[in-house]
Amino acid sequence: MNVGIVGAGYVGLVQAVGLAVLGARVRLAEKNPEKLASLSEGRVPIFEAGLEDAMSDAIEKGNLTFHSDNIDVAQNSEVVFLCLPTPPSIDGVADLSFLNGVLAELAEANIKTTIVIKSTVPVGTTERMARRYQGVFPVLHNPEFLREGTALDDFLHPDRVVIGGGTQEERDMVASVYEGLDTETIFTDATSAELIKYASNSYLATRITFVNALANIAESVGADILDVTRGMGADKRIGRHFLKPGPGYGGSCFPKDTVALLATSRQAGYEFALLNSVVDVDRSQRHWVTGNIRRLVGGDLDGAKIGMWGVAFKSGTDDTRESPALKIALVLQAEGAKVTAYDPEANDPSLSQVDSPIEAARGARLLLVATEWPEFNDVDMGAVAEVMEGDIVYDVRNLLNPEKVRAAGLRYVGLGRPKI
Ligand code: UGA
Repeated sequence: MNVGIVGAGYVGLVQAVGLAVLGARVRLAEKNPEKLASLSEGRVPIFEAGLEDAMSDAIEKGNLTFHSDNIDVAQNSEVVFLCLPTPPSIDGVADLSFLNGVLAELAEANIKTTIVIKSTVPVGTTERMARRYQGVFPVLHNPEFLREGTALDDFLHPDRVVIGGGTQEERDMVASVYEGLDTETIFTDATSAELIKYASNSYLATRITFVNALANIAESVGADILDVTRGMGADKRIGRHFLKPGPGYGGSCFPKDTVALLATSRQAGYEFALLNSVVDVDRSQRHWVTGNIRRLVGGDLDGAKIGMWGVAFKSGTDDTRESPALKIALVLQAEGAKVTAYDPEANDPSLSQVDSPIEAARGARLLLVATEWPEFNDVDMGAVAEVMEGDIVYDVRNLLNPEKVRAAGLRYVGLGRPKI
């Protein structure tokens, strides 16, 4: 099958490589000349496990080609996936100008191919576009559920494929693209498909926020959040996934999508108080963490040296968008602390970063574990103890083995865990 993809961002690239792995002949259109050049040379501009190798394979087999012209790609494809950015504008509403621009361009060129919006778009967008381009081309929605860091694996082993809008014939045609996947396909209208995406991300954000609140209570009453979530997760109705407490959710999706669903509900005349609280409580989780750090260093952050392990919003990615680690670091810096950070993949210009975990710990009064990179577990804690000025390791991801940290003569403080 000939498939076109417009936009070689994170979603478009994974969609293109994933479909090529499934055997489709994929044409990927990208407007940015530098990005296009680097892709054509087989280089992936983002850090994503397995993507570069799979992309090289696909290029070699002739299943993936790169193009600069959207029309050329659409003319030679049976279906085109639009994977364009829809960043929130100042008022939090998604900016649809890229999407509008490409749809208008395809219509102008009298393209007849089925168009599928892959980007996350506000509820009602696909239906509106389908009406606008009625008689020109059909417009459907097929939301993505990829996690950064495991995106290709998520693409190849999805929990479901959702296809919304169009006629059953058009839906079946889009579904045939995913034929090689062993998963459930949910056919629905475009508006429900859009809402499935926002509902899934908002529910997961709610779940994390609930656990974070519980962790804060556990800290105060002397319970262990890890045992509490193990006990909760054993109930099949709850399940074990997405119950890890932490410094709050980050990344380019949860913060944006929760706020977008709030906007949708307001427009629909419903005050979604529950989700409103999730957004508020999530913000306050960062203050909870910085408050604890302030207390742990003796009440005053001014001049305090803080070592930080992790800058990315989660492990497995170099993405720092809405990263809780970064937000915490900025608050600490604003209060006069000197933060020195290390991350295996992520870099942020607003931080002073070093190239090893030991260097980040050097001279620190407190070492903060802010992102759950597994390799932090392999760091020699004896060496950390030697270079630190203070002795507190505050692990807001509950990543390290407390025994190992304590054995090195350091004090271990976890999130929602009993105090030593
Ligand atoms: C999320 C969704 O999981 C994907 O299904 C969706 O496709 C994607 O957004 C999107 O809309 O494009 P992602 O942002 O890559 O994926 O990250 P997640 O792995 O879901 O993590 C989100 C945040 O929740 C991170 O800050 C993570 O540290 C935090 N988290 C996650 C926890 O604090 N505890 C957990 O148990 C799980």
